[in-house]
Amino acid sequence: MKKWLLLSVLSIMVVVLAACGGDDDSKSSDSDSKDEYTADKPLVIKFSHVTSIESVKGKAADEFARLVDEKTEGRVKVEVYPSSQLYGDNDELDALVSGNVHMIAPSVTKMVKIDPRWQYVDMPFLFEDDEHVQAFFKSDVAQTILNSDQLASNDIMGISFWGNGFKHFSNNKHPLVNVADFKGLKFRAQAGKVLESQFHALDAGSATIAFGETYAALQQGTVDGQENTFNNFDTQKYQEVQKYLSTSAHGRLDYAIFVNKSFWESIPEDLLAPVEEALTEATDLANELAAEENAKSFENIKNSGTVEVYEMTQEERDALKEALQPVYEEFSEAITTDLIEGIEALKK
Ligand code: LMR
Repeated sequence: MKKWLLLSVLSIMVVVLAACGGDDDSKSSDSDSKDEYTADKPLVIKFSHVTSIESVKGKAADEFARLVDEKTEGRVKVEVYPSSQLYGDNDELDALVSGNVHMIAPSVTKMVKIDPRWQYVDMPFLFEDDEHVQAFFKSDVAQTILNSDQLASNDIMGISFWGNGFKHFSNNKHPLVNVADFKGLKFRAQAGKVLESQFHALDAGSATIAFGETYAALQQGTVDGQENTFNNFDTQKYQEVQKYLSTSAHGRLDYAIFVNKSFWESIPEDLLAPVEEALTEATDLANELAAEENAKSFENIKNSGTVEVYEMTQEERDALKEALQPVYEEFSEAITTDLIEGIEALKK
């Protein structure tokens, strides 16, 4: 009986000691998580994008990397892969979902694969000016799409908006002044059915071509024209492969920053805070740079000597707007009237 009692007491002590030991372990793993990432062994955030390092997005991405390095004293390293060098339009989203990259900053229309509402950005003449776009970025309507279930169910989190600018049409055949000038031309499109419908409404054709392949497609005549911001046009050197540009400002090209949700949520809190602070500063920079860089690029294009720039009048732009009304008839439901009317309501 005594032996039995002794054994019982001993086993209780073993259990209690093991429990205490467990406690110590968890404490040490907590402090380990703080020491896990050092300047010699940093946490790496892979950030892939498709534009050049001189572009609005390229500059803001590099500044984000610099700020993260500064604010975490090298414990987090953002590896930026520009110019589609790691992933292009066709695979960067899949790479994010699978966690092969942790951060991307696509032109939002390319998120159409996950949620058609992101094509709001292509709705013709929806935004009035840069201020209107910035008001949208800060609005509840923008947060609704950024925090959507569609993103979460793909293990993606949208964490901020970076602006670029208004798109303008260019081509190689003749100046684009009136709606009839678009007839029969073939344009490169970024993604999605809204852009296809836009060109269709102008009696033009279109082909979806990855950004990294567009220069070659224009050079080889696979397509006659394209639509992009002044800055993308300039930093991709389309001056070399396009002859006519019209300042149509008919649609927007803007970005959102998307991260792999599981990865992001695994960043220790003491490192996440400075990373998020860096992102806020890089976002402010991106939004400031956008207007400046597009203005500089417009000058570069005008001075290139190879592109004939036509500055469209308000009447000519109004005629385009009217010709593009069928896009609203076709897509308002998919984009949702909540989003379209929400954006319209933000006009000054
Ligand atoms: C394009 O494909 O034209 C743009 O989305 C590229 C970019 O990321 O600005």
